[in-house]
Amino acid sequence: MELGSIVEFLNSKSILVIGATGFLAKIFVEKILRVQPEVKKLYLLLRAVDTKSAEERLHNEWDYLYLSLYMHGTIHAKCLCTALYSCVHVCVCMYILPRTHIEVTFFSLFVFSSAYVCGEDGGLIKENPFRLGTAKISTKLIDIGKEKKLVEEKLRNLHSVHAEESAITSYMKNYSSKRARMHGWPNTYVFTKAMGEMLLVHHNRGTVPLVILRPTMVTSTYHEPFPGWIEGVRTIDGVAVGYAKGKLKAFPFNPKLTVDVIPADMVINALTMAMVEHANRSTISEIIYHVGSSLRNPFKFSNFKELCIRYFVHNPLIDKDGKSIKVGKLTAFSSMASFRIYMAIRYSLALKVFHLAINTVLFQKSYKDKYIALERNLKRGMRMAELYEPYVFFKGIFDDANSEKLQRAATKTCSEAYAFNFDLTSINWEAYMMDAHFPGLVKHVLK
Ligand SMILES: NC(=O)c1ccc[n+]([C@@H]2O[C@H](COP(=O)([O-])OP(=O)(O)OC[C@H]3O[C@@H](n4cnc5c(N)ncnc54)[C@H](OP(=O)(O)O)[C@@H]3O)[C@@H](O)[C@H]2O)c1
Repeated sequence: MELGSIVEFLNSKSILVIGATGFLAKIFVEKILRVQPEVKKLYLLLRAVDTKSAEERLHNEWDYLYLSLYMHGTIHAKCLCTALYSCVHVCVCMYILPRTHIEVTFFSLFVFSSAYVCGEDGGLIKENPFRLGTAKISTKLIDIGKEKKLVEEKLRNLHSVHAEESAITSYMKNYSSKRARMHGWPNTYVFTKAMGEMLLVHHNRGTVPLVILRPTMVTSTYHEPFPGWIEGVRTIDGVAVGYAKGKLKAFPFNPKLTVDVIPADMVINALTMAMVEHANRSTISEIIYHVGSSLRNPFKFSNFKELCIRYFVHNPLIDKDGKSIKVGKLTAFSSMASFRIYMAIRYSLALKVFHLAINTVLFQKSYKDKYIALERNLKRGMRMAELYEPYVFFKGIFDDANSEKLQRAATKTCSEAYAFNFDLTSINWEAYMMDAHFPGLVKHVLK
């Protein structure tokens, strides 16, 4: 494995980024332009109905980048909204793109998946590819074409009876999670990622260098472009935000288990290293990288909980009336069953009392409002717990042998290894959470 100079590699390269409005895409493009303004071209492909809205979207989504790159004077010259596959050396795809969608074969392909495509496996999870059609729980094969047809048929039926958009969304969400569970994956997100990986590897058949990156739970940036940058409430932050807002006082999670988080800029550094290393290879190869922390620098749910409490007790959020939101205990339930019992006791009794009160003439309106609010909280709490269940009780540890090998090769053979650090062991979780992540979450998401 030889890496050489990343800056030299990027000089005169054209890179296509598919899904360019996303968070990781922004970090990637910002970094490339910062370290190598002489990159030949960056083609940014994004979804929009026409050119005008594509341009508007680019400007809106990339507001921050325009500001930060203004001084480099590069972005207008380097970023185009059209894809010109034939001029591209490297293609980075921010979602699973079946290989069949790309007709040309000159470039290396780097595709983002998720470490949780492993479903609910435990133990040491290897960086192995899927075989086409292999389900998680049954010996039966998944017929991906049939899955696609089933979904299309359901959609067609719903449209033919003029169902409302909200009803269609809700029905399709339930239907697709049922299909996912039937084949052994806990939700549609990882099920579709797994099927995407299967198709990608199957159709690629070694024709282009293919790298599948499987990050774990991506958190705010560790260092670059500045510490704590994040967009939207992601992964485990739903718990931190609910707690900070004073809405979440109990949640199901096992404090002893590892919460596998990884700062976003480290994912991008790993991607860039892999990109250079693979482009330098003389033979075409396909490889999967886990990018996560659970094996080499584990961070426990108990640590996350303790730091979250400490941070928001000392730095409370301010509510709309300008008052500090007081937060206290955060109770962990180490199984979904015990959490369900807690929620039933905590809310059901109160709901019954309010229901009775609604039927009295006096107080009718105020009790009705309270009843609705309580019912909404109960539903929201349960929905969130169910969404998080596969992750908060996840017992696997992600083996990152390929990433580790890349890291070692980078240290030895890459002249800019320090600038593309993705050594997870270098992270001090407490310092990162307290000085970068939580402040970043407040500043960039809860502002
Ligand atoms: N964030 C995490 O914690 C995490 C963890 C593990 C893996 N990953 C994976 O890493 C990748 C990037 O993550 P991110 O956090 O940057 O995600 P993100 O902010 O949601 O961005 C995803 C990008 O991909 C585009 N996209 C998604 N599906 C598409 C489709 N079918 N056709 C065209 N464009 C599509 C989105 O376009 P629109 O804006 O038009 O929707 C968006 O630009 C994703 O594949 C994600 O699943 C993320």
